[in-house]
Amino acid sequence: MSEMHLVPLSRLNDAVRLVVRGFGSNPAEVEAVANNLIEANLMGHDSHGVGMLPRYADAFLEGGLKPNAHVSTVMDGGAMLRLDGNAGFGQVIGHEAMALGIARAQAAGSCIVALGNSHHLGRIGAWAEQCAAAGLVSMHFVNVIARAIVAPHGGSDARFGTNPFCAGVPLPGRPPVILDFATSMIAQGKTRVAHNKGEPVAPGCLIDDHGRATTDPRYTVEPPFGALLTFGTHKGYGLALMCELLGGALAAGMTQRTDDSTRRRVLNGMFSVLVDPTRLADPKQFEAEALAFIDSVKASPPREGFEPVSVAGEPERAWRARRTRDGVPIDATTWQEILAAAAKLGVGPEKVNAAAGLGS
Ligand SMILES: NC(=O)c1ccc[n+]([C@@H]2O[C@H](COP(=O)([O-])OP(=O)(O)OC[C@H]3O[C@@H](n4cnc5c(N)ncnc54)[C@H](O)[C@@H]3O)[C@@H](O)[C@H]2O)c1
Repeated sequence: MSEMHLVPLSRLNDAVRLVVRGFGSNPAEVEAVANNLIEANLMGHDSHGVGMLPRYADAFLEGGLKPNAHVSTVMDGGAMLRLDGNAGFGQVIGHEAMALGIARAQAAGSCIVALGNSHHLGRIGAWAEQCAAAGLVSMHFVNVIARAIVAPHGGSDARFGTNPFCAGVPLPGRPPVILDFATSMIAQGKTRVAHNKGEPVAPGCLIDDHGRATTDPRYTVEPPFGALLTFGTHKGYGLALMCELLGGALAAGMTQRTDDSTRRRVLNGMFSVLVDPTRLADPKQFEAEALAFIDSVKASPPREGFEPVSVAGEPERAWRARRTRDGVPIDATTWQEILAAAAKLGVGPEKVNAAAGLGS
C-alpha cells in the first residue's frame, strides 16, 4: 500500500493554489478551482479532489481545457437557459451557470438550465449546495464526455461514463439534503485512488477486458481496459441512461464519443431543474412534512452492524469537520502525480512540496 501524507488544510490551500496558477488562471479562477477541489477532499470524495489536477494539466496541455473561459448563453427562453461552457474550468462554469439559473428561478419560480461543453464539473453536489443556499430545490442529470468506462447492465464492455445524478433540498434551520453520486458502483476516480494505493476495489464493481468479474482497479486505469458496472443492476443503468439522454443529448447536444479513448479532457453536460419550493407549495406545509419525514427515517433503530441512519449530505459534513481539523490524507502516488503535473505547468515541484510542508 502506498504511503499516506497528512497535509494540514492551510498548507494544502497554499500548495494547490501554486499548481493552479500554472494554468495561467486569473486570481478568481485560482480560488474557484482550488477551493472546489479541496472541498471535495474535505468532504471525503478524494476521487474528485486535488488528485484531478494531473488530468486537468494533461487536458490543458492538449488544448481540451481552456483557462479563464466563461459561460455563454446560447438560448434565453426566460425560465429555460441553454448555456455553453466553452471548455472552461467546470469549477467556474458550473458556478456561473447555477448563478444564472438561480436568478431566473427566483424571478419565475423555476428554471431549467441546459449546460454543454463545460470541462469537468467536479463534485456535482457543489452545484446543488449553491442552489440550496439560495433556497432552491434542484436536480442535476450529468453525462461525461471522455473515454467510456461503464458497461450497460448485461453488457460486457464500456459504453458511457460514470454519469452522476444529484438532487438537493434546502431545509429550514438545518443543512440541506444533498444526494450526489455516480451511477457506476463506484466513481472512476475511486478506482484511480485504489490503484494508486495498491488496493483492490470491492467485489461487484468491475469487469475485466473479457467481461469477467474482477477486483483489480487496473482495468479502469491502464489498457487492456475493462469496465465499471452500474449500481443497482438495471435501475442504476436506467438512471445512467437518463443522464446521457438529458445531460448529454438534450443539454449538451453531445453524447459519449467513441473517438475519446486517447483524449485527456473530460467534458460534462448537465441538465438542471431549479425550483423555488416556496412558490410551488405552501412553505409551512412543505417544511413541516420534510422535517417530520427526515426525523422519522432517522429514528429507525440501526440494524446490527450498521451505524445510525443518516440522510444524504450528512456523511460529507462529518468528513468535512474531521478533515478540516486533522488535515487531508493524500497517498504518495497521487502526490507525486500532482508534483509531476506542476512541473508540466512550469511550477517548481520543490515549491509545491515546500508549501505543503512535505520537504524536498
Ligand atoms: N463530474 C463528473 O463527471 C463526475 C462523475 C462521477 C461522479 N462525480 C462525483 O463524484 C462524487 C462521488 O460519487 P460517488 O458515487 O463515489 O458517491 P458515494 O457512493 O460516496 O455516494 C455519495 C452520496 O451518498 C450519500 N451517502 C453516503 N453514505 C450514506 C449513508 N450511510 N446513508 C445515507 N446517505 C449516504 C452521500 O451523502 C452522498 O449524497 C460525487 O460528488 C459525484 O458528483 C462527478
